[in-house]
Amino acid sequence: MPLVTSTEMFKKAYDGGYAVGAFNVNNMEIIQGITEACREEHAPVILQVSKGARAYANRTYLVKLVEAAVIECPDIPIVLHLDHGDTFETCKSCIDDGFTSVMIDCSSKPFEENIAITRQVVEYAHAHGVVVEAELGTLAGIEDEVKVAADAASYTRPEEVEEFVSRTGCDSLAIAIGTSHGAYKFTAAQCTRNEKGILVPPPLRFDVLHECEKRLPGFPIVLHGSSSVPQEYVKMVNENGGKMPDAVGIPEEQLREAARSAVCKINIDSDLRLAMTGTIRQFFNEHPEKFDPREYLKPARANIKEVVRHKLVDVLGCAGKA
Ligand code: G3H
Ligand code: 13P
Ligand code: ZN
Repeated sequence: MPLVTSTEMFKKAYDGGYAVGAFNVNNMEIIQGITEACREEHAPVILQVSKGARAYANRTYLVKLVEAAVIECPDIPIVLHLDHGDTFETCKSCIDDGFTSVMIDCSSKPFEENIAITRQVVEYAHAHGVVVEAELGTLAGIEDEVKVAADAASYTRPEEVEEFVSRTGCDSLAIAIGTSHGAYKFTAAQCTRNEKGILVPPPLRFDVLHECEKRLPGFPIVLHGSSSVPQEYVKMVNENGGKMPDAVGIPEEQLREAARSAVCKINIDSDLRLAMTGTIRQFFNEHPEKFDPREYLKPARANIKEVVRHKLVDVLGCAGKA
């Protein structure tokens, strides 16, 4: 089947009490790892391209690689989504390039400005059969070149969501309930430590989520910054020359709980980066004489695939839903 929008996907996810995985893609191996897992697990998937990824690969390559995945995986629905579009022009350019979904993220702008720009994107997108994700509330962490300090982040205000959705006409809404971008989601001061000395982050604000879903019945909610930062990969990085002290993510049982609610899309990027980097570091440590990119990218791709499979089956609940 050709690329699809997320409309049908989200309706099924909402009704079925699961979430669709939205994975960031930067190159062929990442796209292959994600889509091979989704094909084998019969899972719908959202492949998302950030502004930075588009600048890295240029505007043509990632679209064409995703089109190749669509040919290779004819039986699963695939969405091509712009992650964190920051201007109308960026969103328009992706819509013109064949993306089926875009995010306009003006969450750091004042409420009225966020509404005005989001509305402009929605009008252009809907006229072209494309759906729009918008955001209210500010996540901590790093996205593209923007770094938001933990103390500058703010939870979504549930009393604003109905007005925002009705005035913008957006198709899904990303909210801030305590997730954060990147592999260092929380400072040590924000966490406690468990008996193994691993940092335990503050719990997600399910009260904010439930208040939002009550005010927007049937409407798909999105969670960004939802990597769990698997400690086995942090260890693999650190044991093979890397230095990632106190990298910490969102506990998977909390994401599982979110997936059962109105959360229909969960964004995961850092976990795939960690799997790729850990695997490549380990490969070079064990085979310092090797230099063929295919030899180190092959196990990296295989581990990305297994991380994605685990998310589909054990966290998101979307395996078998394609
Ligand atoms: O939220 C941001 C994603 O993790 C993408 O990151 O902007 O470095 O491609 P990036
Ligand atoms: P992570 O950094 O937690 O993987 O979040 C990714 C994300 O939200 C992309 O938009
Ligand atoms: Zn994000």
